[in-house]
Amino acid sequence: MSSEEKGSDSSKWSRRGFLKGIGVTSAVAGVVTAVKPLAEAANDNGVVGPGNVAVTLKVNGQSRKLNVEPRVTLLDALRNRLDTTGPKKVCDRATCGACTVLLDGKAIYSCTMLAIEAEGHEITTVEGIGSPDKLSAVQKAFAEHDAQQCGFCTPGFVAAATAFVRQNPNATIEQVRAGLGGNLCRCGTYAGMLLAVSDAAKKGGA
Ligand code: FES
Ligand code: FES
Repeated sequence: MSSEEKGSDSSKWSRRGFLKGIGVTSAVAGVVTAVKPLAEAANDNGVVGPGNVAVTLKVNGQSRKLNVEPRVTLLDALRNRLDTTGPKKVCDRATCGACTVLLDGKAIYSCTMLAIEAEGHEITTVEGIGSPDKLSAVQKAFAEHDAQQCGFCTPGFVAAATAFVRQNPNATIEQVRAGLGGNLCRCGTYAGMLLAVSDAAKKGGA
């Protein structure tokens, strides 16, 4: 190998050359992976993805920005990306209600809604319904009636019950039973929960 060839090799692999190379690569990568906001992300056929999309979710009164693939559910975005772990992942297929949150005040299963669909809506999880220092009427009633055992289903029940009581003040036990039919408790604490929710309804608060 000639000395000229040796020189070109050594400059190619010198520390400075290596760092320059990384800089160029990073700049190119930055351009390639620029994430578009949801409003601009659809292609000509109206399809979004499969890459990340920038969305802003309003969770418990706070605007939270994140980049997500369009396939990510609201439940996974809340739990894995926004550290909001009140809603639980159990069936992940709209059967158990453990993932229930309020969307503009209405109870929904967050495992069956995409995170990108929730942009522009008010999302309230059990954390936003009340706090340990300031329990909501439904949360207080759950505690007073000892309406949980393992507690895994409780955040979803509290969210569903909150929406129900707001819409059905003065609900009877039978109406509560029907209204919360979309939530399941494997520990079988239904008796306590029905009493708790009808009690909260009677007291006129959610
Ligand atoms: S985890 Fe969503 S309904 Fe069961
Ligand atoms: S309290 Fe255990 S699943 Fe409901």
